[in-house]
Amino acid sequence: MLGFWRSSYSLFLLISLVPYVSAGHSFENTAIVRTVELGGSVVHVTTTYAVKALEDDSKIYTIALGEREHDSTSWLVAKIKGESTPLSVEERESNGNGPQLYDIKLPSPLMSGRTTNIVVETAQTHVTYPYPEEASQKDGQSLKYEADLLVLSPYDTAVQRTKIRSPFPQIHSYTEPEVEYTQDAPVTKSGATLTYGPYKNVPGSANARFAAEKQQRIAVHFSYDQPVLEITKLERAAEVSHWGANLNIQDNIHLRNAGPRLKGHFSRLEQQSQAFFQKPAPHMLPGLTLLLPAGIHDVYFYDIVGNVSTSKLRTAPSVPKGSQSNQFSVLELKPRYPLMGGWNYSFTLGWDSPLADSAGWDRERGKWVVGVPIMTTIPGTVVNEEELKIILPEGATNIEFFEPFPAIETELSTHITYLDTTGRPTLTFSYKNLTDKHSGIIYVAYNVPFSAHLKKPIAVATALMGLFVLAFVWKRVDTRIQKQK
Ligand SMILES: *[C@@H]1O[C@H](CO)[C@@H](O)[C@H](O)[C@H]1NC(C)=O
Ligand SMILES: *[C@@H]1O[C@H](CO)[C@@H](O)[C@H](O)[C@H]1NC(C)=O
Ligand SMILES: *[C@@H]1O[C@H](CO)[C@@H](O)[C@H](O)[C@H]1NC(C)=O
Repeated sequence: MLGFWRSSYSLFLLISLVPYVSAGHSFENTAIVRTVELGGSVVHVTTTYAVKALEDDSKIYTIALGEREHDSTSWLVAKIKGESTPLSVEERESNGNGPQLYDIKLPSPLMSGRTTNIVVETAQTHVTYPYPEEASQKDGQSLKYEADLLVLSPYDTAVQRTKIRSPFPQIHSYTEPEVEYTQDAPVTKSGATLTYGPYKNVPGSANARFAAEKQQRIAVHFSYDQPVLEITKLERAAEVSHWGANLNIQDNIHLRNAGPRLKGHFSRLEQQSQAFFQKPAPHMLPGLTLLLPAGIHDVYFYDIVGNVSTSKLRTAPSVPKGSQSNQFSVLELKPRYPLMGGWNYSFTLGWDSPLADSAGWDRERGKWVVGVPIMTTIPGTVVNEEELKIILPEGATNIEFFEPFPAIETELSTHITYLDTTGRPTLTFSYKNLTDKHSGIIYVAYNVPFSAHLKKPIAVATALMGLFVLAFVWKRVDTRIQKQK
């Protein structure tokens, strides 16, 4: 297939499945500290493992996620504390029950008795739900978060604790478990932070038996004063045109307010009085602020009814390609109606930008390279499903791509549009459960034969010729039904 190869430097979750090999007990955890930042549809978790090697040459450290934790984790990256280079992480082949193991390769082997700190960051999606499930326009909004109490590990752990932080001060209730690994209070609350632990001398726990007998679920019920947003489906099409020196990006967005369902009817009056007192309902979304690329023009936004003109756009001028500039065009997007809990809003947003802002000739490779952002991130919002199409110029060959993290599925097909003679090679990337951690750019390298630049005008000319010929022939053919003689 066209000399495809995947990025050799995928940053994380190298999903190469390796057969089960016993990790051996070559480490112990002197401490595990987990911090959970509660959110709406995305929850960020940071776990720091202070580890000590028990054998010389220990280089593979194994972590474990419980079954449900694994199912809801859509992003995982491991680093040595204080460093920025991600470590290689391999997900072990699992038999489908019990905790999921991941092998982390340390940058250099540890001698017996030496220590290091490994920081694992994950993003969990769909781990909170509105509670109560319905709210009237005047009510507040509260969510419940559920999780496993203990951090699992194949190694013995001297002490572990989990902090759960809420972004808003009110925690209504939380589970107070009975835990055999402590004589003190199993959980303490201080302001908007709950601390489960310290729990001492927890034995190796990365097995189905521990999960069944010792693990417990906990729940935290907290107030959340921002809309909980989900993009149930995002379809992005990026169309590269050398002929028009243009990159067009178009997003079909299916947005959903995943907060409590609106109880009763929606009242404009109530909304206006809330707006007047500057206390909008936390589960109502009046609009969104999106950061779009600098240098864009001809921005359009329409929904099923037609063009929506209530939005504001401030465009930033183009920035040199590859510069780490923080220039963005800011779009204050206002849907046709405020989005209440349980409501959906589907719309299309698109723009053009000079191709030179995101594509260039790579002399070394002897190819064009274009960079396409995977999505426009909306902080705290999960994208349940994305399909990203990168449509290359007609006749593009030798296609290669480099992705910041692997897609669930990648496909090469041909996209035929009006006036194309042979169709345009199209790469389609599929994703699930994307979070604000998944921002990134896919680079696609390709060749366009010189003749391809000429194909379009030739196609236009041929089409016009075709019309002439048709008109010419038309005139000479008598289309009237022949009268019977
Ligand atoms: C996406 O998230 C849902 C809910 O957490 C989960 O059931 C599903 O397995 C996830 N899918 C993938 C591919 O991660
Ligand atoms: C929407 O606006 C664009 C540009 O302003 C215009 O070309 C198009 O015809 C409009 N479409 C509708 C349905 O009004
Ligand atoms: C919103 O969309 C979701 C899934 O995309 C669907 O299950 C739900 O019924 C929709 N809600 C309404 C009010 O149409």
